[in-house]
Amino acid sequence: MIDRDIVKAQLKNTFTELTLNGFGEKYSGKVRDSYIVGDKRIIFTSDRLSAFDRIISSIPFKGQVLNGMASYWFAKTEHIIPNHLLAEPHPNVLISKQVNMLPVEVIVRGYLTGSAWRDYSAGNEVSGIRLPEGMKRSQRFETPLLTPSTKAEMGLHDEAISCDEVVSRGLVDEALWEEVKRKALELFKFGSDDAAKRNLILVDTKYEFGTITNSDGSKTLILADEVHTQDSSRYWVLDSYKERYNNNLEPQMLDKEFVRGHLIERGFMGDGDLPLLSDEFRVDTAMKYIEAYERLTGKTFIPATELSGIQEKIEAFFAVHKSEQK
Ligand SMILES: Nc1ncnc2c1ncn2[C@@H]1O[C@H](COP(=O)(O)OP(=O)(O)OP(=O)(O)O)[C@@H](O)[C@H]1O
Ligand SMILES: [Mg+2]
Repeated sequence: MIDRDIVKAQLKNTFTELTLNGFGEKYSGKVRDSYIVGDKRIIFTSDRLSAFDRIISSIPFKGQVLNGMASYWFAKTEHIIPNHLLAEPHPNVLISKQVNMLPVEVIVRGYLTGSAWRDYSAGNEVSGIRLPEGMKRSQRFETPLLTPSTKAEMGLHDEAISCDEVVSRGLVDEALWEEVKRKALELFKFGSDDAAKRNLILVDTKYEFGTITNSDGSKTLILADEVHTQDSSRYWVLDSYKERYNNNLEPQMLDKEFVRGHLIERGFMGDGDLPLLSDEFRVDTAMKYIEAYERLTGKTFIPATELSGIQEKIEAFFAVHKSEQK
């Protein structure tokens, strides 16, 4: 595990944004900065920490961890569904296929927690699915639930909808939606089984899919964005889950939930002034992200402390690619 001092030293040098020359307009989401180059997309994963749809702070090496987790899972799940990843010229950067994103986020849940728990508590229903009475917080579902939400514009919150509404509102056509559901559940099963081998539970996660149009006009479904990262998923420690659950204790978390918890404790739930996070807390958060990365991938985390050379590396990728296309 990385030395705490290396993380501390990086506090003043977090990667908060990437500006490239010669690649056109920059699109900034909460966490990623992207450039579209023809049929490709340059995706830089920054160290920005978002919670409650606001950018709160930056966490050393968070971008590298997320990027590394996503590329680990993209490679592992290729047998289930093709994905957008083409190359990784720097530990914080992916070159991906630019796809036509579906306007829904696909959330799969294995356990009753988070917003599903809040919805269930209000009336035994989650995303239009009726659940049995008397379920406990953090209880495992017999079979995972698929709960879609709309992709809201920047600054707005996503809206939870039912699977039926995805089709009835015309967001995704029925045949494609069936394929999306099937693939999402298959990915979740694979991710859960793999996590279990590492003594972790993949509690829930969010997938984003898109399509590319082939030369014959047919469409191929592609897994895009990020997959099974700590920003898009909850992870709990497996071997302590049962005992803690039976004793009504919160599971041991290896995800962003503890950041949310820390913010709520300080009275912040998305509105008003941003709370200032202490250096100590930022380092703790970084250590958690890195720990989850190492546990899941089984790899030692090698920190990238500089962004220098990134422009040249990306240019080199496109130089090779152009000559390939000729
Ligand atoms: N291969 C791809 N082609 C097109 N768009 C993509 C692709 N992969 C990811 N995206 C989009 O790029 C953006 C990534 O930025 P980021 O994760 O920072 O956004 P976000 O803050 O989560 O915002 P959003 O609410 O739009 O998801 C997302 O809007 C995502 O849907
Ligand atoms: Mg995102």
